[in-house]
Amino acid sequence: MLKRTVNCGELRKNNSSQNVILNGWVNRRRDLGGLIFIDLRDRYGTTQIVFDPENGIELLSKAKKIGLEDVIAIKGIVRERPVEATNKDLKTASIEILVEELEILSKATPLPFLITDRTTALEDLRLKYRYLELRTKELQKTLAIRHKAAQVVRNFYTKNSFYEIETPVLMKSTPEGARDYLVPSRIHKGQFYALPQSPQTYKQLLMLGGFDRYFQIVKCFRDEDLRADRQPEFTQIDVEMSFIDEEDIIQMTEKMLKTVFKQVIDVELEKEFPRIDYSEAMLKYGSDKPDLRFGYEIHSINDLIEDVDFRVFQTVLKNDGAIAGICVPEADKFSRKIIDQLTEKTTKWGAKGLAFTKVRENKFESGIAKFLNPVYEKMITKFEAKPGDILFFVADKSEITYPVLGRVRLELGKFLDVIEKHIFKPLWVTRFPLLEWNDDEKRYLAKHHPFTSYLEEDGALLEKEPGKVRARAYDIVINGYEIGGGSIRNHTSKAQSQMFDILGISKKEAEDKFGFLLEALTYGTPPHGGIALGFDRLIMILAEVANIREVIAFPKTTSASSLMDGCPTTVDNHQLEELGLQLKK
Ligand code: AMO
Ligand code: AMP
Repeated sequence: MLKRTVNCGELRKNNSSQNVILNGWVNRRRDLGGLIFIDLRDRYGTTQIVFDPENGIELLSKAKKIGLEDVIAIKGIVRERPVEATNKDLKTASIEILVEELEILSKATPLPFLITDRTTALEDLRLKYRYLELRTKELQKTLAIRHKAAQVVRNFYTKNSFYEIETPVLMKSTPEGARDYLVPSRIHKGQFYALPQSPQTYKQLLMLGGFDRYFQIVKCFRDEDLRADRQPEFTQIDVEMSFIDEEDIIQMTEKMLKTVFKQVIDVELEKEFPRIDYSEAMLKYGSDKPDLRFGYEIHSINDLIEDVDFRVFQTVLKNDGAIAGICVPEADKFSRKIIDQLTEKTTKWGAKGLAFTKVRENKFESGIAKFLNPVYEKMITKFEAKPGDILFFVADKSEITYPVLGRVRLELGKFLDVIEKHIFKPLWVTRFPLLEWNDDEKRYLAKHHPFTSYLEEDGALLEKEPGKVRARAYDIVINGYEIGGGSIRNHTSKAQSQMFDILGISKKEAEDKFGFLLEALTYGTPPHGGIALGFDRLIMILAEVANIREVIAFPKTTSASSLMDGCPTTVDNHQLEELGLQLKK
């Protein structure tokens, strides 16, 4: 075989007249009056090669048989290309190779889709032939970013005295959080391992083990409903530290993210990331992961409603509900049809409607204008509105009003196209509620996870108003994505047992599921805390792509299957028998 002496991305003008060998895929071919031009591609780039009849008819007729995506080897001479023929997008544009020898290493049958035009194929087809899709420049780019980011993360933590320590993939099933993926044991029939939803308990035990600063780039598994930013198996940058408080985790994570953005995509993030309390984030943005790339903040108008004779608002006010709104510019872009579509969405999201009015000089116009005109001045002041703006309102229980307006806000941002590209807005959301009421189970669940501690000053609320207790928990958000979350943990057995009590986990169940942890905590535990960042989501942001499948080499579909190898699949009966399992009819 003709083994390459250079790759397809490295030759420049100053390599002219060198003898080289290139290996690669045929990206494009053109036959021009006896000459054959081929773009030869590998991971590093594309180089134009030329077959000239002057180098022999035999060579030319062999070249005629070359098809797209064949893998070939060529030997030839580098020559400068005429200036007018050079293509600015191509790094190797100033040269081409005059071929003297050709070896076809492997023929390709016609491909199910064009590597050079990925968007022409439906995603299902691309996922079935993922190994072909991996040849596209889009996936070559995102996976290069992923590699680079992983190296920067490893270097960063290593420089800061963290150890990367692997934790088990076969572990004990735990009751909180998402559904577990279970693995049956052959040796212990009827018993199961679970795949880790995260290494949470292990990293805490590593702190007990004295390792002080731990990180790991680690696979996690969660059997939950999938979305554009969720996969059943995904990767975390998992971190835990001893003898620290919130501030240490926040500072270290900020430094890490700044290093990653600088070194991977040459972007300087803000010196200090802004912070907002969960409760304030909900009131201002209707979301615990606000996208700060644009304004459109939510304002409560409960204080202005007394003089507003609109039945809907009055009823909600009487029932202690929340009436709030958003002001955006370009009212004239909002036709009846657009407003109806938006209203339809809000009712789908659980609100009863979406009221609106347009701001004109000295009065409101259309929608609920006649009800609001008596408080025109106060409204204008509250929303800092100007003529030409439009106001949208939702009135409901506050648990509905704010999240729905949060979604309206995002829709408005998209509709008015105010989200600029290449902008990255990080934000810490802090002091999350410790607990979240679950109406199905009629009990409180941990909002983050049951190992999270609460703010000492809120301890008195635990008995009477547990829903109001705030956790020592924080999330890092970038551009509206929850990139990571963590907390300061319960580091005494007593505090941890109390938490299980609050969650309605019986002594027996706590002992069965977490006995090892409760016991461990009695043997001298450093105060500790940590965070886990969704590595895939971080890469989505760095690569500026909207789907998590774009940053994973072999992803699953939203129904958690792999179209390429067809998993999950049934297994042979003898495999089931060995495991002592029988399938229900
Ligand atoms: P949490 O459950 O918040 O915390 O997860 C941390 C981060 O992981 C990412 N993530 C996901 N990414 C892709 N697909 C998924 N299905 C998925 N689920 C989560 C998110 C999220 O912010 N052990 C705790 C961390 C800690 O307390 O230290 C934990 O796992 O970006
Ligand atoms: P109605 O009086 O029900 O015809 O509603 C008048 C306008 O108020 C319509 O544009 C509705 O979409 C809107 N609307 C109705 N209920 C609510 C609500 N709870 N919050 C906000 N707007 C509402």
